[in-house]
Amino acid sequence: MTKSMITAAPGRRSRYILDIALEMQRKGLLQFFEDAWKTYGDFCQIQIGPRNLFLVIHPEHVHHVNVANRQNYDKLQSYDAVRELLLGDGLVTATGEAWRIRRKLMAPFFTPRGVEQYYPVILADGLDFIQRWQSKAGSGQAVDMIQEMMSITASIILKTLFSTQSEENLVEMKEAVETMISFTSSHEMTPLKLPLWAPTRRNVAYRQARQRVHTFIDAVIAQRRALPEQEWPDDLLSRLMRARSEETGEALSDKLLRDESITLFFAGHETTARTLTFMWYALSQNRDVEQRLHQELDQVLGDRPPQIADLKKLPYTLQVIKETLRLYPPAPVYVRDAVADDVIDGMHVPAGSQMMMVPYLTHRHPAFWPDPLRFDPDRWLPEEEAKRHPLAYHPFAAGQRICIGNNFSLFESHLLTALLARRFTPRLVAGHQPQIVMSGTLGSANGMPMTIEAR
Ligand code: HEM
Repeated sequence: MTKSMITAAPGRRSRYILDIALEMQRKGLLQFFEDAWKTYGDFCQIQIGPRNLFLVIHPEHVHHVNVANRQNYDKLQSYDAVRELLLGDGLVTATGEAWRIRRKLMAPFFTPRGVEQYYPVILADGLDFIQRWQSKAGSGQAVDMIQEMMSITASIILKTLFSTQSEENLVEMKEAVETMISFTSSHEMTPLKLPLWAPTRRNVAYRQARQRVHTFIDAVIAQRRALPEQEWPDDLLSRLMRARSEETGEALSDKLLRDESITLFFAGHETTARTLTFMWYALSQNRDVEQRLHQELDQVLGDRPPQIADLKKLPYTLQVIKETLRLYPPAPVYVRDAVADDVIDGMHVPAGSQMMMVPYLTHRHPAFWPDPLRFDPDRWLPEEEAKRHPLAYHPFAAGQRICIGNNFSLFESHLLTALLARRFTPRLVAGHQPQIVMSGTLGSANGMPMTIEAR
């Protein structure tokens, strides 16, 4: 393509940062992006002062950035805040050789077979949770479903990582990491920031939470180092401590063990909790789907809890989860930074641009998803899936930096849905209309109050 044929992408431009930033804040990022998409089309640019954002929505463009020309798109300045405030140099934020070596080292713990070893933890927590819901069932008292699901997925990932059984530790760690997460996401959304040392209430709460998390993880690592290796508990942290890079022969430093632990806790519970929350919501709004799910569970499981071998016989249950991840992707936006100039579909992308990958909108694209707002798990019948562009769906990102925990998450969600939907039918409180927003992950600004009915 000659230079003269390359055009600028359609979109909005403002020299004044506050102009667009305030509108983004007022509408919320998702609504702002959706409006821009409807006005300017699949590939559009939002230029705010010196910053260039591109919305990447069309599956071919998603493929270009994540796969075809992936060497030009990295996690650079867009990840600085998350790196500095939350995850250090763990796998989500690592780049270059350091990322490649670590990804290879950690991959075996997350293969479809590898995640099956977490079955006992998931089953035990799921059975405990049944007791909890039994005491609420029929009471008419509403629970906040997001908190319910966060408590079970946080417990599962903490036990998987550290074998922690102490309820007190679980609650303390969960609360501290959640304080760090919410601080980081609101920090990213605020156009004018105070320095971290400023003694505001939020800064102090963040610093204390961070200290608690670091102290806890450092103590767990030190306790293990004090024991002979054969006495280490059989969990993810021990696997990370034992792992050696094939190429360099090196083990992870204590600092990296801490960064990876926080990364896995952060990446590994809230997203799955959001999936399950939106699934209960979708089921309560789509009774025909709920009925088919119950039929499958009753037929295959009767009155017993699922075993690993049962999952293959529960395809509709998995279709319900995949359809939830389509309509309500927990990570509705992820970002890549353009390293050098590029051209996408004849349009110029300057070096330094932030490519906003928006699964939330790709998954609602009418050219790929007929009647996109309808919750329809039959879209996931194998013959339907085979007909679709593979990147019309990217809830776990795509290409080499695809989520390492996708098998873990689907395995956990499949098992928990089979366990809980067999026994309970959560119902959205009458008249409640969730306001779907992105605050780091996808959520509901006015919560998800639901009552629990026993089946
Ligand atoms: C429904 C659940 C989940 C969703 C929707 C999800 C989504 C994602 C997405 C979109 C990314 C790319 C992030 C980016 O580019 O900035 C990612 C990366 C990652 N996720 Fe997940 N995730 C889920 C569950 C999990 C679980 C359960 C774990 C761990 C136990 C996990 C660990 C990670 C890690 C370590 C990365 C970084 C991978 C790399 O760059 O090599 N995720 N995830």
